[in-house]
Amino acid sequence: MPVAHREDEGAARRVGLPGRKWVIALILTILTLLNIVWSTYPPRSGSTQPDKESDESMKTRNSVTIAGVLGAALVIAGALAQDTKPGGDEWVTPARAARKQNPIPADSAKMAKGKELYEMACFACHGLAGKGDGSAAASLERNGAPIRPGNLSEPKLWEQSDGTLFWKISEGRTPMPAFQESFSEEDRWAIVIYVRSLAPKPTLNAQAKGNP
Ligand code: HEC
Repeated sequence: MPVAHREDEGAARRVGLPGRKWVIALILTILTLLNIVWSTYPPRSGSTQPDKESDESMKTRNSVTIAGVLGAALVIAGALAQDTKPGGDEWVTPARAARKQNPIPADSAKMAKGKELYEMACFACHGLAGKGDGSAAASLERNGAPIRPGNLSEPKLWEQSDGTLFWKISEGRTPMPAFQESFSEEDRWAIVIYVRSLAPKPTLNAQAKGNP
């Protein structure tokens, strides 16, 4: 009997294949899921006594568990490696997000709203004046290493665009939470307006000093 259309199939599969990394990640994810399903299933009925058969199935179960754990570890390691590759530990904002302009007016109402939200959601880590000295600041960790919250009160903060601050507040970065779910876009822009007021603008430094 001739083997029909093996080549066609192979060619079709080659077309539009996603990157190899993704295929591996997908396989590992499926393996992990399979493992979870497998290990939550009760053992075969009637095998309360350890016999040969359930012994066999325990062995299979164990190797699937090991494969699943290894797979999950690989996926996590891969994700971590990707996260830390460019620019070491720097928190880099995508250019498109950094260019975003603040669409709401920086009036006193928004400033007050931003202050209220800051004192509710940011102050524990960043401190009232944004110096990074909130009550929780000393105990923050990332991957087991201590990390300090960014200092939001230095003129250097003005090197970051409104879009950058908005993106960082929206996305978060462990241990800083992401705020895009908890605050509306408008509220996050109000926070940006308030955070801006914590750091003196570099060029207006002298003026600001005489103007409390
Ligand atoms: C659980 C503690 C925690 C909370 C709550 C928190 N942050 Fe952060 N924040 C951090 C840490 C830690 C960093 C440093 C992250 C890094 O550099 O990788 C940071 C960094 C930042 C940065 C970047 C600073 C820089 O120099 O790039 C901004 C802006 C910021 N936080 C704003 C906020 C605002 C606004 C809120 C409230 C809406 C908030 N954070 C809530 C811990 C926190």
